[in-house]
Amino acid sequence: MVRKVIIAGNWKMFTDLDEATQLVKGLKASYANKNDVEVVICPPFISLATVRELIKTSSNLLLGAQNMYPEEKGAFTGETSPMMLKSVGCRYVIVGHSERREYFKESNAFLNKKVKVALDYQLIPIYCVGETLTERESDKTFAVIKTQLVEGLAGFSAEQLKKIVIAYEPVWAIGTGKTASPEQAEAVHAFIRKELSDLSDAKTADSLSILYGGSVKPENVTELMGKENIDGALVGGASLKADSFLGIINY
Ligand code: 13P
Repeated sequence: MVRKVIIAGNWKMFTDLDEATQLVKGLKASYANKNDVEVVICPPFISLATVRELIKTSSNLLLGAQNMYPEEKGAFTGETSPMMLKSVGCRYVIVGHSERREYFKESNAFLNKKVKVALDYQLIPIYCVGETLTERESDKTFAVIKTQLVEGLAGFSAEQLKKIVIAYEPVWAIGTGKTASPEQAEAVHAFIRKELSDLSDAKTADSLSILYGGSVKPENVTELMGKENIDGALVGGASLKADSFLGIINY
């Protein structure tokens, strides 16, 4: 099964409008379309429309949001709806990043609603799962990830699951410089694919792209991407410099 390779850059809360503009211009200047890789950039909400204008002529350079509120519109001060994301050209939306789970107490049940509403609006959710260091050290990695998958993806048909992208981001590897070894990552990715198969069927699970995230850099991406069940990367820090992000895209 040939799965879609996706390299996504999550700029988190690191770029103001000028910095986002410079970053995307830097990327565009040296980005040669790699047809076999879908590149997604996820700037802060405030820069989405500007970034969209700058990339709209580049096929394979797609826009994603870092979060979304799961209602079309309403009195939800400060929130951004899927309809709004569509209107600025987003194709992807990150759902359930560990920073949202931790700092904003987003539960699997709430994330389930986000995934559903994203799909309703033809946005591709990048649903994030991952264990903390304490959970890993107490041998709870697989149990934690299973719960995140079973509860976060409850109630979806195989047809719906086919449209979802999963990102495995061990919390202990995010922004720490500590990458999961390719073997550690592969073990969890294979587990995720098996769980997805239980939630749908083997063919559906086999078709889904599972990205790895956590201190991905040009120096470690090739080895990670060499693993059977790793289909791309969700990149934080190294996506904030055009050179290093391009180094990852051209792994
Ligand atoms: P780093 O690449 O900075 O570790 O961040 C990973 C991440 O959280 C991407 O969503």
